[in-house]
Amino acid sequence: MFVKQLLPALAAIGSVAAQSGTCTVSTTTVNSQAEATKLASCRTVKGTVVIGSESGATIDLSGPEEITGDLIVRNNSQLATFSSSSVQKIGGNFKLEEATFLTSLQFPELTEARSIEWVSVTLLNTVSLGPLTKADNVRLSDTFLDTLDGFALSSAKSFKLDNNRRLSEYKSKLTQVSGELIIQANGLDLDVDLSDLIWIANMEVANVTQFSVPALKVVNGSARFDSNLFESFSAPNLTHTETGDISFVGNGFLQNMTFPKLTEIAGGLLIANNTGLDRVTFFPKLTKVSGAIKLRGNFTEVGFPELNIVRGAFDVSSTANIEKSCDKLKESAPRSQGGDGTIEGVFTCTSDNDKANEDTDGSTSDSGDIDGSDDDENGAAGLVLNAALFGLVAVAGLASAL
Ligand SMILES: *[C@@H]1O[C@H](CO)[C@@H](O)[C@H](O)[C@H]1NC(C)=O
Ligand SMILES: *[C@@H]1O[C@H](CO)[C@@H](O)[C@H](O)[C@H]1NC(C)=O
Ligand SMILES: *[C@@H]1O[C@H](CO)[C@@H](O)[C@H](O)[C@H]1NC(C)=O
Ligand SMILES: *[C@@H]1O[C@H](CO)[C@@H](O)[C@H](O)[C@H]1NC(C)=O
Ligand SMILES: *[C@@H]1O[C@H](CO)[C@@H](O)[C@H](O)[C@H]1NC(C)=O
Ligand SMILES: *[C@@H]1O[C@H](CO)[C@@H](O)[C@H](O)[C@H]1NC(C)=O
Ligand SMILES: *[C@@H]1O[C@H](CO)[C@@H](O)[C@H](O)[C@H]1NC(C)=O
Repeated sequence: MFVKQLLPALAAIGSVAAQSGTCTVSTTTVNSQAEATKLASCRTVKGTVVIGSESGATIDLSGPEEITGDLIVRNNSQLATFSSSSVQKIGGNFKLEEATFLTSLQFPELTEARSIEWVSVTLLNTVSLGPLTKADNVRLSDTFLDTLDGFALSSAKSFKLDNNRRLSEYKSKLTQVSGELIIQANGLDLDVDLSDLIWIANMEVANVTQFSVPALKVVNGSARFDSNLFESFSAPNLTHTETGDISFVGNGFLQNMTFPKLTEIAGGLLIANNTGLDRVTFFPKLTKVSGAIKLRGNFTEVGFPELNIVRGAFDVSSTANIEKSCDKLKESAPRSQGGDGTIEGVFTCTSDNDKANEDTDGSTSDSGDIDGSDDDENGAAGLVLNAALFGLVAVAGLASAL
C-alpha cells in the first residue's frame, strides 16, 4: 500500500518543492539513502515519513525543517545511524519501534514533536536533540540510554520511562505534568531529580534510588511509590492532593519521610510493607483525609496530631507493639466505637500481627467493624481508597494519549 502512494508522492516532490518548499507526501516510505535525498529539497514535508525495513545502515534525512505528520522507524534491523541536520519540528509522533540495530540518533535541531515514542530500541545509546523543549507525550521504553540530556521539556501531558536499564539519572526540567509521570523498572541506580516540578496530575514511581521533589506543591490526582530503594522521602512543599491518593508500598529501605506542609489528601493514604519504617509520625499538619487511611508495617509508633476528618476507615496493623498509639488514636474513632467521630469509617488498630506486611492492597477490610453492624456508611467509606486501581488508570490514560 505504501509503494502505491510512494510513486506519485515522490514524483510530485520534484515539481512542488522547487516552487514552495512544501512537499506533500501523504505517507512516504524511505528505503534507501537515495530515497531520503529526494526529500532534501523540501523545506516542509507535509505528511508522514516511514523509514522502511530495507533502509540499510544509515539514513540522513537532512534538508527538511519540518515534517507535519509522523516520523516512524518500525521493525527495522538494518538501520544503525539515523540523522537529520535540519529537522526542527515533527508535527506528529516521532516513533521508533523495534529498531533493534539503531545505536545513534542525531537530530541536533529538533526542538518540538507532538509525541516521542521510542519502544524496543534496545541498542540506542547516543542521542542528540535540539534539545527537545516541546512535546505533549514522551515514552522511552526498553532503550540503552544512559542520559536524557536531550529532553528539556518544561511541561508535558505524559512522560513515561520504563525498562531503560542503563539509565542512572533523570534530571528533569518539568514544572507541570497534566497527565501522568510513570517511572518504573529502569536501572536500579536511578536518581530522579524533579527540582522544578510544581504540580502533577498523577505519578507512579518504582525502583528508583533517589527521588527529589523540593518544589512540588500539588498532586492533582494520585502519587504512588512502589519498590523504591530510597531511604528517605521528602515533599517539603506539598500541601494537598486534589482528588487522589498517596501510597507507599514495598519501599524496603525507607526509614524516614517528611511532609511538613501536607494538610489534605482528597483520596486515601496507603503505607504498607515499608519494613524499615519504624514509625508513622511525619504528617504534622494533616487535617483531612477524604478516603481511608491504611497502614501496615513494622512500626512502633503512629500519630496524626492534627487529624480532624477521615471520611473512610482508619486501619492500622503492625508487626510490633503499637498499643500506646492505638490508645491515643482510638479517641478519634467513630462514635459507634466510642471515639469523638473524627474517623467516619471503621477504626482498627492491631499490634503484633506477624502478617502485617503481607497486606498491601488498597482496600480496607470490614474485619474491624467491632460493633458488628454492617452499615452502608462504613462499607462505602472503607473502600474509598482507590490506589490499587491507579496503576491501570494511568496506563490506560497514557495509551490513549499517544
Ligand atoms: C519485519 O521486517 C521483516 C523484514 O526485515 C519482514 O520480513 C517482517 O514481515 C516484518 N514484520 C512485521 C510485523 O512487519
Ligand atoms: C493542578 O493543580 C494546580 C494547582 O492548584 C493547578 O494550577 C492546575 O491547573 C491543576 N492541574 C490539573 C490538570 O488539574
Ligand atoms: C520494581 O518495582 C515493581 C513494582 O512496581 C516490583 O514488582 C519489582 O519487583 C521491582 N523490581 C526490583 C528489581 O526492585
Ligand atoms: C515552597 O513554597 C514557597 C511558598 O509558595 C516558595 O516560596 C518556595 O520557593 C518553595 N520552595 C521551593 C524549593 O520551590
Ligand atoms: C514486601 O516488600 C518486600 C521487599 O521489601 C518484598 O520482597 C515482598 O514481596 C513484599 N510483600 C508483599 C506482600 O508485597
Ligand atoms: C527525617 O528527615 C528529616 C528531614 O529530612 C530530618 O530532619 C530528621 O532528622 C530525619 N529523622 C531521622 C530519624 O532520620
Ligand atoms: C519486619 O517485621 C518482620 C516480622 O516481624 C520481620 O521478619 C522483619 O525482619 C522486620 N523487618 C525489619 C527491617 O525490621
